[in-house]
Amino acid sequence: MDAMGALRRTHNCNELGPDQLHQEVVLMGWVLRRRDHGGVIFIDLRDRWGITQVVFNPAINEEVHAKAHRLRSEWVIAVRGRVERRPPDMENPKLATGAIEVLVDELRILNTSETPPFPLDEEIEVSDNLRLQYRYLDLRRPEMAANLIMRHQGLQAVRSYLSDRGFLEIETPMLTRSTPEGARDYLVPSRVNAGRFYALPQSPQLFKQILMIAGMDRYFQIVRCFRDEDLRADRQPEFTQIDMELSFVTEEEIITITEGMIKTLFAATRGIELSLPFTRMTYDEAMRRFGTDRPDTRFGLELVDLTGTLKGCGFKVFRSVIDKGGSVKAINARGCATFSRKDLDDLTEYAGRFGARGMAWIKIREDEWQSPITKFFTDDEIRAMGEALDVRPGDLILFGADRTDIVHQVLAELRLELARRLELTGDSGFEFLWITDFPLLEYDHDQKRHTAVHHPFTAPREEDLDLLATDPGRVRSRAYDLVLNGNEIGGGSIRIHDKTVQEQVFKALGIGEEEAREKFGFLLRALELGAPPHGGIAFGVDRLMMLLTGSSSIRDVIAFPKTQKATCPLTDAPAPVARKQLTELFLRPDWKEE
Ligand code: AMO
Ligand code: AMP
Repeated sequence: MDAMGALRRTHNCNELGPDQLHQEVVLMGWVLRRRDHGGVIFIDLRDRWGITQVVFNPAINEEVHAKAHRLRSEWVIAVRGRVERRPPDMENPKLATGAIEVLVDELRILNTSETPPFPLDEEIEVSDNLRLQYRYLDLRRPEMAANLIMRHQGLQAVRSYLSDRGFLEIETPMLTRSTPEGARDYLVPSRVNAGRFYALPQSPQLFKQILMIAGMDRYFQIVRCFRDEDLRADRQPEFTQIDMELSFVTEEEIITITEGMIKTLFAATRGIELSLPFTRMTYDEAMRRFGTDRPDTRFGLELVDLTGTLKGCGFKVFRSVIDKGGSVKAINARGCATFSRKDLDDLTEYAGRFGARGMAWIKIREDEWQSPITKFFTDDEIRAMGEALDVRPGDLILFGADRTDIVHQVLAELRLELARRLELTGDSGFEFLWITDFPLLEYDHDQKRHTAVHHPFTAPREEDLDLLATDPGRVRSRAYDLVLNGNEIGGGSIRIHDKTVQEQVFKALGIGEEEAREKFGFLLRALELGAPPHGGIAFGVDRLMMLLTGSSSIRDVIAFPKTQKATCPLTDAPAPVARKQLTELFLRPDWKEE
């Protein structure tokens, strides 16, 4: 007790054990559960660290026992009492403090609580909205607190790993200019510069390059990024990166340093010893075998190209696709000939969501290939398909036929859906995979022009430079991504440090000289004033932590995430603002929702 008569906490709720027997202690925390056992009241007292059973026995202190009758869930209390061993049949080996209990001699009620809108001690389904509205209650749940604790431990380990290797943590502006990372910007109107806007950074890309030009040599930042894009389970409008940049390095050095960082992170958080180096695969191989640049390689179900085999086939749908330069590819779903008509219809509907116009299938029976389309193929074609797909009786072939990028997208998603249905990924650990040799540019069929696969500051491979003007789609870049169990957890590249090359790339992207000067003049100018060769990478902290904690959404590892509609149910953001605030910002206050 201090001079003011307040109790001082001596231990947290996860600390006491047989070592403290008969000691007087003071604990503080929340009432998780209250049990009344024939006169004796048991409370599970909870704090961030854990749970301790505290006991109110009328034989010890009648007044305190009477007061304990009032306690309800989530009341905040302080107790002073003695640590005693629990009776042998009352021990709880599942609890760190399960061997002891605290016999209470003094109880102080620090605060009461209304009945919480959802119980915190049970595994009941609570709607996401309610959880986010009462996030402070949600975060009291041990699983949620554990996620935030692990996130802290992971970032702590990353900070010292990088700091030990000469990286400087340097902050970059949040109020800045738009940089093209491919998403829409969050804009902030300027009050003192009428009609002008800042953009919240989609990443610190240009600042970290400029820090290299400034001679900082090795930079890192655990930094918030903002992207106004459609949200999914692995995307938030604001998310966190471990962002880094290094001077005078090659791809190999960046890969080696970051592999060490990921290894340290896994050891510090989960005690997992990853083996290095991680596997690598080229972009072309990933697309060919899995239809995506972030393949989940924990299971097979690979794509098999049948375009050559079927180029003269009698099935009109396939034939016309091939004649137009598209592809026919297939997956052998091993043992899935048992799928019902409804299963196939569901899968077809699923494929449709990713652009498939249909999903031809063949069931491999002992004596026949059963399907409405078998009749269109010659014996030779059937034999060749059977060999290419390594079919056995009981298998199911699923086809995609369309423009090659659509086939890839459809079959990549179908492959994941099959793996979910067949439960192929259960507990198969962590599979890291570097994807290398990305193309520099890709053709955007909607915009009818080339866009950057990574971003416009990524260096082309030296030997492909000449192709920039003649055949830009074939230029390879010096970019790399890190994939974990089918999730893109990081991406980076060696950058362009030569002004002429940067101008050539802008040109290939359809960014005219004037636009380039207007938007990136400061970068082009910096490239003229002694820019060292440099490169870097950024990792998605939320995705990494989601995978590390085994969560199904990145929301579970973010203290205050947004909903699918980019709202915050806790604060009710975004919210309307006063008319005066709008006019001060030169925004029209008469906007009406249609
Ligand atoms: P990139 O755009 O690939 O690269 O982003 C790096 C990593 O950030 C994560 N990420 C996201 N996580 C959650 N929600 C989002 N909306 C989201 N968007 C991206 C991913 C991704 O791999 N400046 C470059 C890096 C560089 O070149 O150094 C960049 O931002 O895990
Ligand atoms: P149809 O001749 O349109 O009746 O199609 C015959 C079979 O081919 C059906 O199972 C369709 O789902 C399938 N199919 C149609 N278009 C495609 C496509 N683009 N890719 C794969 N299968 C398709």
